[in-house]
Amino acid sequence: MKNPSTSKLDTVRLQNMSRAFIGSASLFSAMDLELFTCISEGDNTAGKFADRAGITEVNADRLMTMCAASGLIRWNTDHFDNEEDVQRFLVKGEKSYAGAWLSFTRPAWASWGKLTEKLSNSEPATVMGDYKTMTVEAARRYHEATASVGFGSGRRFAKQVDLSPFTKIMDLGGGSGAYSIVAAQLHPGLKAVVFDLPPVVEITREFIAHHQVQDQVSTQGGDFTRDEFPIDCDLAIMASNLPQYNSKIISQVIGKAFNALLPGGQMHLIGEMLDDDRTGPLDAAIWGLYETMSNSTGMTHTRSDCVRYFQEAGFTGIEVHEFVPGILVRVCGKKQ
Ligand SMILES: C[S@@+](CC[C@H](N)C(=O)[O-])C[C@H]1O[C@@H](n2cnc3c(N)ncnc32)[C@H](O)[C@@H]1O
Repeated sequence: MKNPSTSKLDTVRLQNMSRAFIGSASLFSAMDLELFTCISEGDNTAGKFADRAGITEVNADRLMTMCAASGLIRWNTDHFDNEEDVQRFLVKGEKSYAGAWLSFTRPAWASWGKLTEKLSNSEPATVMGDYKTMTVEAARRYHEATASVGFGSGRRFAKQVDLSPFTKIMDLGGGSGAYSIVAAQLHPGLKAVVFDLPPVVEITREFIAHHQVQDQVSTQGGDFTRDEFPIDCDLAIMASNLPQYNSKIISQVIGKAFNALLPGGQMHLIGEMLDDDRTGPLDAAIWGLYETMSNSTGMTHTRSDCVRYFQEAGFTGIEVHEFVPGILVRVCGKKQ
């Protein structure tokens, strides 16, 4: 987030930042009380919402006023309407509902109140961070959340990248398998292997079965920091696990993917990358800082760091593309 260049300085920006947690709390409460679903269904005044939510009208009014001031809902003569993104992603029952993903970081709420202590932790950091205790149940909750946005990212990837020349994908840290499942649905001749931690691939198999792509998409349980990669692949995808590891590990993983790919193959790394002037985007900084919570060795990587990892691995024709502007960048390279 860049500093405003105003001639007269005041404390407004800093005040807003110091209270930003109240915005998060309001969003979570609005989701808990299904405010946006109520508005969508016509319970769109403080009185109607209070009755539906079982809270006082005063509290309904307070929450709705905060949500309106935060730009989540807007007053329209005699009632509130949802803003467009809220209507699309926060109304329960909609196919595009992304509540699980938007609540993904909520369990860490109390830990963020102890950030200073966490930053002062002198215990040695671990490579696997939170992943070392991953269970099947935790993976189910985790990927219910990632899938609520991951399939959209999978469709975006298939639009940005011509998948027709490829025969087999290795989807490193593929999670729900969203990228592979979408690719398989669009290209019936294409095969994919979702490589992820053993408890996670149990859940991946549920997604694969649900989407009925078992003939094309398989799984391989393993740790990409240590284990061998799938063979006979001409496309490697690694999406949304970049800040969880440090430069050494990411370089090694990209090097291993290069070695495992068939000649003529390509790799696409999609992640929250920092601009080279290190001024943002905020999301890249957030996910780097997030690693403090689990005391992992993870860190934020810049776009040029990622290009360098590709060069060092031996990739050529390296390109950097916006993937989800402000959130995700895609770096890709070719193996001759
Ligand atoms: C945020 S999810 C992204 C999932 C998927 N690529 C997507 O974009 O929807 C990160 C995934 O990387 C996996 N992962 C992290 N570290 C891993 C490792 N060392 N080996 C294998 N998978 C790993 C996690 O288990 C998780 O499924």
